[in-house]
Amino acid sequence: MTIRRVGVVGCGLMGSGIAEVCARAGYEVVVREVSRVLLDGGLARIDASLRRGVERGKIEEAAARRAREAIRGTITLADLAESDLVIEAVIEKMAEKQAVFRELDGLCPPGTIFASNTSSLSITELAAVTTRADRVVGMHFFNPVPVMTLVELVRGLQTSEETLEAARGLAVSVGKTVVVAKDYPGFIVNLLLVPYLLDAVRALELGVASKEDIDTAITLGLNHPMGPLTLLDFVGLDTTYYIAEAMYAEFRDARYAPPPLLKQMVLAGRLGRKSGRGFYEYGRS
Ligand code: CAA
Repeated sequence: MTIRRVGVVGCGLMGSGIAEVCARAGYEVVVREVSRVLLDGGLARIDASLRRGVERGKIEEAAARRAREAIRGTITLADLAESDLVIEAVIEKMAEKQAVFRELDGLCPPGTIFASNTSSLSITELAAVTTRADRVVGMHFFNPVPVMTLVELVRGLQTSEETLEAARGLAVSVGKTVVVAKDYPGFIVNLLLVPYLLDAVRALELGVASKEDIDTAITLGLNHPMGPLTLLDFVGLDTTYYIAEAMYAEFRDARYAPPPLLKQMVLAGRLGRKSGRGFYEYGRS
């Protein structure tokens, strides 16, 4: 099937990046947020990223302008009804994602493909609230979306080959390398990443070392671009907490249980870069 119009639900960290890379690849994009304030914030993030792309010589100024013009923001979900494929990138909570899919199912023609950017939740469970389980697929992008070149495709129990191939085509056309996982909590990346991030918080909690030394050890000792606590701030402590909760609910394995310090930081509003403070302090963006 041919995809020309892409809908994106959510214009947060991930949704704005997904909208941007799709528009850069020539798709018409409609992105929806729940309020004008959040939408304006998301569109400003896209503007800033396109500007950075131009400054870094990754995109021509005219192409950046065309990409921006190809993105329409809305606060009305029905404006996504004409999309060939809709990517959901709302908060990492099953009930919220299912509510989006249930509503979209009533708005979009039966042929529209629904993709979820979930990083841990079951695609089969999301698909169950729709009348098109064969047309629901996982498309997991990585943050920052314009820079990270991976997309994990997730095949739900009922995802059709045609749907998987359409999602693959879209991911490849926006410049990403694709890996395919079955519908298993955490898929490939978070199955391995989440216990590591949680262990870093536990190491800090136990007083094994300072946060700086934990991050320096991993950055220099393993040649990672960021230490785990910096990466947690980057991904969002709330997002990581929700992912860990979802994985723990599935596995009942202590490796996935969020440590008390992580929960406390989320409750205290220390969500990482996006709130100006997590393990480290940041200027508000
Ligand atoms: N558009 C296009 N390209 C851009 C860009 C933009 N808006 N902004 C930056 N770039 C390019 C830069 O030009 C540069 O390219 P070159 O290497 O060719 O020069 C590259 O992206 C890196 O940019 P910077 O030099 O600004 O950044 P950096 O070197 O300081 O690296 C980083 C920043 C990419 C974030 C790096 O620290 C990193 O890779 N960190 C780890 C990120 C990570 O692990 N993300 C995954 C998190 S897990 C997740 O997302 C999923 C989940 O479910 C939790």
